[in-house]
Amino acid sequence: MAGLSHVAFRQVVRSYLPAHVNTLLFTEMLSTRLLPLEDVGQTPQTRIADGETDLISQLLGNDERLIDHSVKKLQSIAPAGIDINMGCPVSKVLKHNWGVGLMGDIRYAEQVVRGTRAVTDLPLSVKMRTGLSDDPVYLIEFVKMLEEAGADWITLHPRIQSQHRKGRANWEYIGRVREAVRIPVVGNGDIQESEDVLRMQRETGCDGVMVARVSTARPWIFWQVGETLGLPPPLGREGEPAPRTPEEEGLEYHRALILFCDQLESNFAPAEQMPRLKLFLAWGNKWVFFGHYLWKQVNRCPDLIRARGVINDFFSTPKTLLPRTSLQ
Ligand SMILES: Cc1cc2nc3c(=O)[nH]c(=O)nc-3n(C[C@H](O)[C@H](O)[C@H](O)COP(=O)(O)O)c2cc1C
Repeated sequence: MAGLSHVAFRQVVRSYLPAHVNTLLFTEMLSTRLLPLEDVGQTPQTRIADGETDLISQLLGNDERLIDHSVKKLQSIAPAGIDINMGCPVSKVLKHNWGVGLMGDIRYAEQVVRGTRAVTDLPLSVKMRTGLSDDPVYLIEFVKMLEEAGADWITLHPRIQSQHRKGRANWEYIGRVREAVRIPVVGNGDIQESEDVLRMQRETGCDGVMVARVSTARPWIFWQVGETLGLPPPLGREGEPAPRTPEEEGLEYHRALILFCDQLESNFAPAEQMPRLKLFLAWGNKWVFFGHYLWKQVNRCPDLIRARGVINDFFSTPKTLLPRTSLQ
């Protein structure tokens, strides 16, 4: 997630992953126009922590030469895989025929996947939407093309471009795509509670589930799912059950926010810290009772010292997390 899934956020998520369990995390989308000029590993978007061996780099672009340069530059952070963004719906991106724009021209998208396949042996995936319009026949033709062109797996966020992130994600399409191809299909869209992860797998048969927005509020969702599946708790939390009640989750959110601030401090320059805290809270607050008040207060803070004070004040009386929010 642009602006969100940077190293500090990932460290918070990692602190809640069941111990010794393999997962895949993603970078923010990385522009193939910028990567060739950048000091990869040093920019806020490409900075990684020790041991991030499961990190997929997501590329935004369509120019084969720039993709080639970008993949080479990324070797310095040794990605676990390369993902092509065919989902970003914003007009700035569509104008360049990047993101979901690529889904409008199947032959062009094929060229991009074949071109990327030709320059890397790493696992190659595509993060996509239903498309520019709601056309399930085209969607199936498109995913079959991706498989043929060399994609190793697909993540489907089943909304069309104009929906952005509004309305409901149509999980039925995840099931249809699952049946149409042999490569793994990861489902994505509208996961809010741990039960949603298991329900998406049950209802669609998908091979994996991608969790996005709610991980800014409930990053321990991975612990909750793991616990239900009989996996061990995260390292350092041995013997503890995952937070489940609104009160337990309220308490954990306070801890997670402070950990996030600590991670921002260790990984980012002062000027880079507050914008990231504000964005993290802009999403996470939706699940917190009175969270909007907290977000407004933090927005007024000039630095992390003040922000920590505001956060600790807010949680000086116990707060609760909502199981679900409207997400609109
Ligand atoms: C702030 C923000 C930035 C996002 N940026 C990206 C991105 O760069 N690449 C991408 O594939 N998806 C991006 N997404 C979309 C999510 O990956 C995901 O597809 C979408 O939010 C639906 O999943 P969810 O309901 O679990 O949030 C972004 C979402 C948000 C909220």
